[in-house]
Amino acid sequence: MSSFSNEEFEFTFLDEGFTAKDILDQKINEVSSSDDKDAFYVADLGDIVKKHMRWHKALPRVTPFYAVKCNDSKAVVKTLAVLGAGFDCASKTEIQLVQSIGVPPERIIYANPCKQVSQIKHAASSGVQMMTFDSEVELMKVARAHPKAKLVLRITTDDSKAVCRLSVKFGATLKTSRLLLERAKELDLAIIGVSFHVGSGCTDPETFVQAISDARCVFDMGAELGFSMYLLDIGGGFPGSEDVKLKFEEITSVINPALDKYFPLDSGINIIAEPGRYYVASAFTLAVNIIAKKIVLKEQTGSDDEDDANDKTLMYYVNDGVYGSFNCILYDHAHVKPVLQKRPKPDDSCYSCSIWGPTCDGLDRIVERFNMPELQVGDWILFENMGAYTVAAASTFNGFQRPTIHYVISRPAWQLMQQIKEQGFLAEVEEQDVASLPLSCAWESGIEYPATCASASINV
Ligand SMILES: Cc1ncc(COP(=O)(O)O)c(C=O)c1O
Repeated sequence: MSSFSNEEFEFTFLDEGFTAKDILDQKINEVSSSDDKDAFYVADLGDIVKKHMRWHKALPRVTPFYAVKCNDSKAVVKTLAVLGAGFDCASKTEIQLVQSIGVPPERIIYANPCKQVSQIKHAASSGVQMMTFDSEVELMKVARAHPKAKLVLRITTDDSKAVCRLSVKFGATLKTSRLLLERAKELDLAIIGVSFHVGSGCTDPETFVQAISDARCVFDMGAELGFSMYLLDIGGGFPGSEDVKLKFEEITSVINPALDKYFPLDSGINIIAEPGRYYVASAFTLAVNIIAKKIVLKEQTGSDDEDDANDKTLMYYVNDGVYGSFNCILYDHAHVKPVLQKRPKPDDSCYSCSIWGPTCDGLDRIVERFNMPELQVGDWILFENMGAYTVAAASTFNGFQRPTIHYVISRPAWQLMQQIKEQGFLAEVEEQDVASLPLSCAWESGIEYPATCASASINV
């Protein structure tokens, strides 16, 4: 293994044949004889590269503006910046983060319809012009604080079937949209387009179709009022892992014809999206350690319930919880699934178990009920697909620190990233079979790096 640092974060190059899981096992082995078994992540930056290739193939007309709120780790942001993505920032701090790694203001949309005036002024002074709005008050604030802003009108969607609804808080109806366009005209503001968000964790692709058609109506209203609008922003809502009913390509196969119908190629409209979860969920695996355990003997119930086959249930306490990475259970409606780090023996008995976080709060429960073999204090439990809305909102409540993140990337993924950075999306890169890209590989074993890898710093 060779580790590289580029001031802000370290990452490890992987060699062919192994997976990011091997790094995880290695980290666990390293601390096997110590008491120091803190929870940690392994994040495969190659998985993000792979997602980017998949995006380009499935939504060729749509430029991704990564939603920083989803996971603001510098390594993630930097990887996406190198790949040429734009960024959806919700605040001054997110704008500063993205700009600190050299992203130009044209690649940033300030996609928060309700902003503090001082932060609008910050956007103005740092050259960020694109921003969303959905109310008259916001228009008046922008007219004073950032009159050169390029405004994007956020409309509501029917997000009733999404896992996390957003239109309860944001978005203008079609009727209100007309009034807002009229008011913007009076204030001499530039409206450049329309945005929407179908809700995070979209379960019905038809919501996109309706929203795209509504956006078309608003473009037509804008044209009537003399605006030349040229930007459609289709928001987020795309799945980030495969453990979902509705797959990414099932959604995009519905979106593409709708875009072609309402915003055909020759309309000259630029189309962007604000994917968050899509890019990061599957790249992060979390390893937590069992710090305490309780055996609860069952009362005799006489029940035929299968779970009553054993006379005890088990409670495990681990060193990350809902006030840390698992805040996704509370805020993102996540259902997490434990994976045993040690392969169980086929004849091991299974018990009904619950898994709890380390804080003193009774709310801090990660898994209510799961059947698994008996584990001991010091054993590890893994949670996959932990990159979205986890680290970004984790607190240090009760003094429990956030887990360290170990970044890894395979050399083919690294080289592909460099190729995209230098030459954009080449025809050969586009043709490449994304699924066959070897992204998770083995330990580096003393082989010389190619010149491109030797410096191992990610420059935007
Ligand atoms: C304005 C906006 N854009 C994009 C996103 C990212 O959504 P997702 O993670 O579903 O792609 C969110 C999430 O809350 C959002 O509020």
